[in-house]
Amino acid sequence: MRIILLGEPGAGKGTYSAEMVKKYGIPQISTGDMLRAAVKAGTTLGRQAQEFMKKGELVPDSVVIGLIRERIQQSDATQGFILDGFPRTVPQAESLEKTLEGMGITLSTVLKIEVSKALLLKRLTGRRVCPNCGATYNIDTMRPQKEGICDKCGKELVQRPDDRPETIENRLTIYQKDTAPLIEFYEKKGLLKRVDCEGEYEEVLERLFSALEKTARV
Ligand code: AP5
Ligand code: MG
Repeated sequence: MRIILLGEPGAGKGTYSAEMVKKYGIPQISTGDMLRAAVKAGTTLGRQAQEFMKKGELVPDSVVIGLIRERIQQSDATQGFILDGFPRTVPQAESLEKTLEGMGITLSTVLKIEVSKALLLKRLTGRRVCPNCGATYNIDTMRPQKEGICDKCGKELVQRPDDRPETIENRLTIYQKDTAPLIEFYEKKGLLKRVDCEGEYEEVLERLFSALEKTARV
């Protein structure tokens, strides 16, 4: 299955991707995670990306397009993948289309995660991440067993630098301007499925998986 998870910052793309990885055994490909890894490693790409990311702005299309083109051609992605945070602009979506065409494959579906703005804000401000292994928690909804400590590797949890209130607002504005047009882009292609992702976690998962299972193109 080749899936795109589309949704605002904080919608749950990373959280649900992890569930899909477990269920389908296909990799999650997150441009946000790839860029954060580059920042952490201090590469040239990381240093360039950091300037945009800390303000909540998008990294230039040319940078992320190159990253994805290379990543989806790796051997672990031959059975499928979950794109989390890519594409995020119409030029990115068009370039993805060309890359997939060149590989002789098509997308299975685009799931649009639907969550209210109030919930997005609550989730983003409550999110805590492990700087070591990247695991994600939430001080309201997904607490670690020991407060402030990662269940998986024992490191102290931190707030993502772009989860500060002023940056969150900027990210949501940029989403509306640059990313929301993708809803129509994929709707026209008959690929978009909207899934209401408010409510009990298990129920939301069931809705997402049932939308995926009804996907015609596998
Ligand atoms: P990126 O890392 O992609 O961030 P984002 O899109 O803003 O999305 P988030 O990771 O903030 O949210 P999410 O939807 O993954 O939510 P999560 O599952 O964590 O991008 C970061 C930056 O990198 C961008 O601003 C940009 O600069 C750059 N970038 C990345 N891709 C790019 C691209 N393609 N082009 C250009 N630039 C790019 O959930 C949020 C919280 O809610 C968590 O605490 C979680 O535990 C909790 N939660 C989630 N679901 C539930 C639930 N059902 N119940 C209870 N709690 C829940
Ligand atoms: Mg994420």
